[in-house]
Amino acid sequence: MSAKSRVLELLIQKKGAYISGQEMADALQVSRNTVWKAVKGLQEQGYAICAVPNRGYCLEEKNSRLSKEEIQSHLSTALWRLEVCDSLPSTNTALKHKAQLGEPEGLVLIAQEQTNGRGRRDRSFYSPRDCGIYMSLLLRPSLEFSQAACLTACAAAAVAQALDEFIDGETQIKWVNDILYHEKKSAGILTEAAVDMEDGKLEYAVLGIGVNVYPPANDYPEELRSVVGSLFSQRTCREDVRNQMIARILDRFSIYYQTLPQKEYYDIYRQKSIVLGRPVQILQGANTWQGLALDLDENFRLLVQDADGRRQALSSGEVRINY
Ligand code: BTN
Repeated sequence: MSAKSRVLELLIQKKGAYISGQEMADALQVSRNTVWKAVKGLQEQGYAICAVPNRGYCLEEKNSRLSKEEIQSHLSTALWRLEVCDSLPSTNTALKHKAQLGEPEGLVLIAQEQTNGRGRRDRSFYSPRDCGIYMSLLLRPSLEFSQAACLTACAAAAVAQALDEFIDGETQIKWVNDILYHEKKSAGILTEAAVDMEDGKLEYAVLGIGVNVYPPANDYPEELRSVVGSLFSQRTCREDVRNQMIARILDRFSIYYQTLPQKEYYDIYRQKSIVLGRPVQILQGANTWQGLALDLDENFRLLVQDADGRRQALSSGEVRINY
């Protein structure tokens, strides 16, 4: 690894704080002149690094902050009102409260961290500060409850496509709501909805999107390491890409959402599906069975052939791929 990369790593570790040239030179076992040259090179590349005599160097915090202004500057659609919070237990929970109080469609709640991020099946979603995207969208579509699965599928296709613009290679979708990168979960979607009992239509839906962009400083908790991964292996991009990613996800989702009944996202979802044609294990409540994932129907039900050759159309449950 070059001196420049190692200096950048130290600056990132201390982001927002000063570190002296001598301290870096000692840590890297190089001369102060080498550190100075590395910093100069990084500044020329565009990194916002302040150099102050007697204090040292500091990588500006704004390099890794989510900001409403910056997201807006990348957005093409005017559908969304953005609110960026420092810390929330869960953006979905907070947005559901606002929805119940009558907040109109279009509010997007984003947090730098979640202290109680939630996933499907009562699981938690690990949401450390500055490492990911944790956001929820408030929707009020005119949709039967039975069609709510389309929202999750629509979001999965939009998120996967948007993320592909930033990474090497491609993401894949594991039915119904997981986005995988290098076969590890890098994003998930949690749709929570309230129904109007009079007409059976959705009163509102809160669509929660979580993306693991960078790995946490001390890696993921042990129990997650084999299944969870991030899009980038370290934070070496010149600028934090999360603001741009959020804008691309919102733009892409807007296109599909505005023409929801046409299901333009069906082909993308199907094409990106990692389970089709593969032997799978299905988990439904306490029930687990083996099958072959055959196809997806137009309502995003997974068609699975069981061990006796019977075909079942699943609207819920969890799929594990048998490798
Ligand atoms: C899953 O993988 O089962 C879904 C994960 C969804 C996580 C997102 S992060 C933003 C929003 N707030 C939450 O508490 N959860 C969703």
